[in-house]
Amino acid sequence: MEIRKVGIVGCGLMGSGIAQVCATAGYPTIVREVSQSLLEKGLAAIDRSLSKLVENEALTAEQRTSALGHLQQTLRLEDLSGCDIVIEAIVENLERKKELLAELDGVLKAAAIFASNTSSLSITEMMTATRRGPQFIGLHFFNPAPLMQLVEVIKTVVSDPEVVRAGFEFARTLGKTPILTTDRAGFIVNRLLVPYLLDAVRTFEEGVGSIEDIDQGMKLGCNHPMGPFTLLDFVGIETTYYIAEILFNEYREKRFAPPPLLKRMVMAGLYGRKAGKGFYDYTDPKNPRPNRLLER
Ligand code: CAA
Repeated sequence: MEIRKVGIVGCGLMGSGIAQVCATAGYPTIVREVSQSLLEKGLAAIDRSLSKLVENEALTAEQRTSALGHLQQTLRLEDLSGCDIVIEAIVENLERKKELLAELDGVLKAAAIFASNTSSLSITEMMTATRRGPQFIGLHFFNPAPLMQLVEVIKTVVSDPEVVRAGFEFARTLGKTPILTTDRAGFIVNRLLVPYLLDAVRTFEEGVGSIEDIDQGMKLGCNHPMGPFTLLDFVGIETTYYIAEILFNEYREKRFAPPPLLKRMVMAGLYGRKAGKGFYDYTDPKNPRPNRLLER
């Protein structure tokens, strides 16, 4: 089960980050998007990130050139036919993922490994769109993929242990640390992280502390790299809301229920950093200011 060539479907925030990591590790990596403009946007993000890593002396200029040399782009799914592993990183929509996976099933060689980078959808349900259940696993990377050390390897009740082992080995060759988890909503990290983020919103709504004080509290009191509101804005308010809904639907426990404020922010388009406004206002991106309109 040797992995020599990698395919990535989707070149958004996660897909581009994963493609970058694979290419940097020396894998010939082919990334597929649905339009040339999306491909170009993703590849530009890779270029910026690699340049930043060189600037910060985390990579040499030669490693950057070599990584770019390992990257190929395409709009055609058929071009992934020679890949030994394909990582799906498209939009978090189960129906769209299932359609794509069914199509990929007809393209990939018999021994290829299917992996999804979903943060919260069921790997088992995705697997049902293919005829290759034993070869299907989850490989969940964290944002920003080039910097975050962890990969969750998700097995289903029918995953072949050899495929799970190959997923582990593959993550290690990327310089990441893999952990094993089963297919339950949120896996390990989001199952623990999301209720914490939701609780931060409730803590704010109950008037226990301000946005900046709650953030400072967790940063300085617990040495978290970001406070919960900075992290919520970073992950995306609508993404967190979506994951919380999936967790709540699976477990029916109150701790997973998205608080009303989060829902109102999604309705109002306050998605966080990418929208320019969430718990903070990013009008000056180097100096975000708490969004005072959220205070009661
Ligand atoms: N590529 C290359 N360089 C990058 C980068 C990227 N994608 N992102 C940031 N950097 C650079 C920054 O530009 C910065 O360089 P300069 O100092 O030259 O400006 C350097 O890395 C350090 O960044 P920061 O100064 O912002 O400081 P930091 O030490 O806080 O590191 C961080 C950034 C790694 C993102 C850190 O803040 C962190 O770990 N934050 C928490 C992230 C987190 O929790 N991610 C998980 C989200 S949950 C998830 O992903 C799961 C899900 O399913 C939703």
